[in-house]
Amino acid sequence: MSTPQSGGMRSVNAAHALILFGATGDLSKRMLLPSLYGLDIEGLLSSPLKIIASGRQPMTDDQFRNYAKDVLLTHNDNNPSSHEALDNFLKRLSYVVVDLNDSKNIASLGKTIKNIDQANPAIFMSTAPNLFETAIEGLRLSGLTNGKARIALEKPLGHDRQSSQAINDAVQTAFSEDRIFRIDHYLGKETVQNLLALRFGNALFEPLWNANAIDHVQITVAETVGVENRGSFYDQAGALRDMVQNHMLQLLALVAMEPPAHFNATEIRDEKVKVLRSLRHIDRKNVLQNTVIGQYGPGAVGMTPYPGYRDDLGASSNSETFVAIKANIDNWRWKGVPFYLRTGKRLPIRQSEILIQFKPVQHSIFDTPLQANKLLIRLQPEESIRLTVMAKEPGLDRNGLQLREVALDLSLTAAFSTQRRRISYERLLIDFIEGDQTLFVRRDEIEAQWDWIDRIRDGWLHHKMQPKTYPAGTWGPSAAVALTEREGVSWHD
Ligand code: BG6
Repeated sequence: MSTPQSGGMRSVNAAHALILFGATGDLSKRMLLPSLYGLDIEGLLSSPLKIIASGRQPMTDDQFRNYAKDVLLTHNDNNPSSHEALDNFLKRLSYVVVDLNDSKNIASLGKTIKNIDQANPAIFMSTAPNLFETAIEGLRLSGLTNGKARIALEKPLGHDRQSSQAINDAVQTAFSEDRIFRIDHYLGKETVQNLLALRFGNALFEPLWNANAIDHVQITVAETVGVENRGSFYDQAGALRDMVQNHMLQLLALVAMEPPAHFNATEIRDEKVKVLRSLRHIDRKNVLQNTVIGQYGPGAVGMTPYPGYRDDLGASSNSETFVAIKANIDNWRWKGVPFYLRTGKRLPIRQSEILIQFKPVQHSIFDTPLQANKLLIRLQPEESIRLTVMAKEPGLDRNGLQLREVALDLSLTAAFSTQRRRISYERLLIDFIEGDQTLFVRRDEIEAQWDWIDRIRDGWLHHKMQPKTYPAGTWGPSAAVALTEREGVSWHD
């Protein structure tokens, strides 16, 4: 992982041209333009870096600059700054109309970059994957795939292993793996990277980070939002492919991986992929015992009433908006330790967290019941780490020592309150521009993820499993509670 620095000390691989396909789309508006601007005002973009925006909509450079200005003034409370800084940023921008369905048309893009070979162009594809093949062909014709040119790909990268392979094959005809940056925006989140700091920067946890001391792990990514205006995409995907295949499996891999010998892209990803390949298959034989799916019906989040998924969608559907899974990792470290995963839309709160539940003490000398230690790593909305421990209640203990669970709380948001909170794309974009792949997903990881997911989906189809309805604003169908309760485990809500 590179350490961004202001001033001139940058990677020799740093791009001098960043090409944004899909520059007028939603991601660009919400994340990419604000992130690039945030990096610029901190002096983290090199002075030669030009940003070439591209989209289907005809616009002149000035019209795009005005569009970007508007975006930055309205979507950018993260980065207040002066007019001068904004004008300087806008000067980096230019715009080229490109129809990604037409490879010859893309070829004209190459002409906008002087000395392509020295520019190390960084090409960010924020577009539908069905356009990738013609786009790659066009990039090749324009000379934009040569030398150190690199490409970043947004999800969804396929809808199963086969389609993901086809996309990867197409991209690899033009870019070698060390020049392909597959995005999982969870890897750009501070707290996700903090998992590595916590595990490998402290002597305390690693000796206990295994089946001897850990009873089980829970990973929850709960959202209060519904399907919003993404129905046509989401309904094809469902929660398993939208959230578990990527974000949740990456979290699981970071929690479960062996310590790499060095902090670099190859070794970290080597360790993650080993975990992903060690996931016990969930297939037709055991999918009914190990997974639960749900779909939100009408209900309320807090005091606000919401319609059900089908009303949001305006159509009947059997896609899951909630999934809970009991996963197992078949290796020495995690033998017999279940990893419970759960994600859903229209749940009661927006909260992503990882709970490490330790085993009880070997032998208790106290009369009062003891709670086993828990380590709760909260990723969002606030970032915190909480360790619960047993402590003696103050008093003279005439009826025996009284113990109570208390929390050692570390609020990362408060501890680093002077630091600006960044959106994950700032991190991902600077690493992409500088050519550091540590926080991007390698092909073998993606394919191991799909292998595991495809078996689950095949099991669901085989058993014609239908999602159970849960009222909006609740923690999913009751079967999700039963999934853990039958093993004596309660979800941490
Ligand atoms: C995206 C999913 O990848 O992640 C969305 O497609 C989901 O459905 C989003 O809402 C969640 O991201 P975050 O950063 O808000 O937790």
